Amino acid sequence: MMALFLRSILCLLLSARCFGSPFFVPVEDKEALVQETEGESPYGSLWPLPQTVQISTQVLYIPPAQFSIVHGAGSTAGPRCVVLQDAFRRYYEYMFGYSTSPKNDISPSSDRLLQLQVVVTSEDNECSMYPHIRSDESYKLTIDENGAVLQASQVWGALRGLETFSQLVYEDSTGAFLVNFTRIADAPRFAHRGVLLDSSRHYLPLKTILLNLDAMAFNKMNVFHWHIVDDQSFPYQSVLFPELSNKGAYQPFTHVYTPIDVRLVIEYARSRGIRIVPEFDTPGHTTSWGNGQVDLLTPCYQSGKPTGSFGPINPILDTTYSFMQTLFHEISLVFPDQYLHLGGDEVDFSCWRSNPNITKFMAEQGFGTDYRKLESYYIQKLLDIVTKYHKGYVVWQEVFDNHDQVCSAYKNGS
Ligand SMILES: *[C@@H]1O[C@H](CO)[C@@H](O)[C@H](O)[C@H]1NC(C)=O
Ligand SMILES: *[C@@H]1O[C@H](CO)[C@@H](O)[C@H](O)[C@H]1NC(C)=O
Repeated sequence: MMALFLRSILCLLLSARCFGSPFFVPVEDKEALVQETEGESPYGSLWPLPQTVQISTQVLYIPPAQFSIVHGAGSTAGPRCVVLQDAFRRYYEYMFGYSTSPKNDISPSSDRLLQLQVVVTSEDNECSMYPHIRSDESYKLTIDENGAVLQASQVWGALRGLETFSQLVYEDSTGAFLVNFTRIADAPRFAHRGVLLDSSRHYLPLKTILLNLDAMAFNKMNVFHWHIVDDQSFPYQSVLFPELSNKGAYQPFTHVYTPIDVRLVIEYARSRGIRIVPEFDTPGHTTSWGNGQVDLLTPCYQSGKPTGSFGPINPILDTTYSFMQTLFHEISLVFPDQYLHLGGDEVDFSCWRSNPNITKFMAEQGFGTDYRKLESYYIQKLLDIVTKYHKGYVVWQEVFDNHDQVCSAYKNGS
């Protein structure tokens, strides 16, 4: 009950109707169909609303002890498809695992549904891949006198269809489980349906991150933008630069994400059809980075003397770029997604302005006093590094707004 309650709360908190379309698209066979979804959704409706839905008043009873989710005939996916095997177990549990009703079989002996057959049709079903920007998440679900069949081109659509099926199953006042005759065809309106979580300002325990991934799956969200580090703390435990989290995390043992934690998050997300796009924001938002990496941040000056405080990444030192090269090489290997988020927002120029060596560098480069040019210089070098590791990148909007010089590079790189 608690789990179901939590599940519906999370569903309410997240997402709008960004998976299905709010429009009802009629199909020919309307014989047995009395209720169609259009306009306001009644309580207990599908969420998000699929592209086309037809639900009839004819019902099938599901005896949980005899019911199973199986690979249907002709499916290119089988028991070796771990993503689906996991999902079959998980969705069985969501549907029947939280019931408080007696466990004995109380459903009538006729009109029973004993199987949901899942048929993945594409040879290239992507069972062993990570979800990506072009993942096919479309599916068709049919529940009628011939049984229940969920058909999808790839595993990603099968995952979304299992979520829909689980939302269709309900329990009546006697504790019997039912599902109505239904016909659904669905596909997302948007390829990128994301949630950003910030684990730097507040450290989020691993459990909380996994719970959020569950909530995202219930809402058919598919991108977890992991804002993993920032000024306040550096919880990402780097293998090559362990001092970053040893000195930059709120606490070096309890408030970090170890390589195993990160791996777990990536796999947990994969099995729910969710991409992980990590954000390592530079050159601003990097105070915590400086604790564990000397000479990375710019020393700020006042009246010709260092103040002891630090500003953004120091863009004029070669050591900065060799560090970035090594760190982003690690990051590009740890995170399988095609895209990394490189931040680039809210760079405060006052510290750069105060530093005599940076002033000298600006003059040498012919940047005048336009510190945006210095920022572009840094960002371009970082993009070149990331491109070398065959990653695409995402940045905050202001990078586009403020830096004409690097825009063409974005176009080529993405
Ligand atoms: C499912 O069938 C029941 C029983 O006929 C009916 O009362 C209910 O309205 C149907 N649900 C939907 C969403 O059409
Ligand atoms: C400027 O560069 C010199 C030589 O590399 C170094 O000794 C000095 O600390 C630097 N000063 C600042 C303000 O970074």
